[in-house]
Amino acid sequence: MNNFIFQNATKVYFGKDCVKEYLGSLTEPYSTVLLAYGGGSAKRNGIYDEVTGILKANGKKIVEFSGIMANPTYAKVQEGAKLVREYDADMILGIGGGSVMDCCKAVSLAARYDGNIWDDFWAKPGVIGTEPVPLGVIVTVAGTGSECNGGAVITNEEKKVKTGRDYPRLNPGFALMDPTYTYSVPVKQMVSGGFDILSHIMETYFSEPNEDNVSDDIMEALMRSVIRNLRASIQNPEDYTARSNLMWDSTMAENRVIKMGKKCDFECHNMEHQLGAYTNCNHGCGLAVLHPVYYRHIYREGLPKFVRFAENVWGIARGGKSDEELALAGIDALADFIREIGLPTTLKEAGVTDKSQLKEIADSCGISAGAYKKMTHEEILEIFNECFE
Ligand code: NZQ
Ligand code: ZN
Repeated sequence: MNNFIFQNATKVYFGKDCVKEYLGSLTEPYSTVLLAYGGGSAKRNGIYDEVTGILKANGKKIVEFSGIMANPTYAKVQEGAKLVREYDADMILGIGGGSVMDCCKAVSLAARYDGNIWDDFWAKPGVIGTEPVPLGVIVTVAGTGSECNGGAVITNEEKKVKTGRDYPRLNPGFALMDPTYTYSVPVKQMVSGGFDILSHIMETYFSEPNEDNVSDDIMEALMRSVIRNLRASIQNPEDYTARSNLMWDSTMAENRVIKMGKKCDFECHNMEHQLGAYTNCNHGCGLAVLHPVYYRHIYREGLPKFVRFAENVWGIARGGKSDEELALAGIDALADFIREIGLPTTLKEAGVTDKSQLKEIADSCGISAGAYKKMTHEEILEIFNECFE
């Protein structure tokens, strides 16, 4: 294992009715709450009413920050920061998925920073001394794991860049996670979030070290859990056990635990983020298209791990197969699963329709230093072309 330091500052309150039970006391120290949410699902499924009821009963002044879009933009971050300053909000409470949570983290820092926060934080990996506005999140869809990390993935539309990094100071102070809140997530979004979880685990698993390490063992169990519980949630969206497991799988995949001692790849994320920056495509859908194709490009460089993946995650028996055949059977099983759960298999299906843009997008992608095989922009373009239709 590589050396590491581990800390996670987010306190998690997990389970049915956790919002009713804990939100009042968690917001007790604050007077004015910036209440952030997305395009309206929280109003339709009753979560908004439940939350505002608790805040009002506890005498909080509420400042509304609504309409946070999927793939939140830097302009939206500035809008939220302005509201925090204007109303002197002393706390931010986000209700939603990765987009709301990421936007809230970004706002929490931007509201307190005097300089150009894009240039000083997103454009370069420097340290920002500013203390962010205290943040709590209420998770309504499983996927990104943003509730327990410091990632704030933001799209700068002008610069055509979608980026973020795990900045520990941006971990929410608390995360309320009631699996029943995810019952109303449309199946398409549920499977997209589910694939994002799987992707976070795979992007970490398929990297050095290859020798015995506890992170890889945990990840195999997590991947089996995501696959099993995603299938069960499709069968019955109100299966509490399946939804709970999926929700915690999502946190476990991105709360740093599995990354300890690992190099991490995340090249598919680099590619998907730039596809998102240019086309606003859905994160999980873009990832689903890219992964099998990317893995067929890199499996030879990470052969022993791809063999383990086939055997320990998909339960494929070796039979008379060579290592290479077994590795490819594992990648085929992943591709079959993507089709089975109804995710797109081409970029066109994922909403990336203009082939002439692909070179520019490929050239804009970051190159991972932790991957089994270091990509070039030419090879990324090859992958995009193979994925296109
Ligand atoms: O906007 P509303 O109306 O609320 O609807 C949302 C949205 O349309 C809907 N939704 C959420 N909870 C619901 C619900 N609909 C019904 N019932 C509920 N309970 O779901 C849709 C998608 O929400 P969004 O937050 O965009 O999805 P997700 O959680 O997948 O977040 C995606 C964003 O997170 C970033 C992605 O790049 C993308 O911008 N990521 C953040 C990461 C992090 N911070 O660690 C890591 C990831 O790799 C990822 O990059
Ligand atoms: Zn992701």
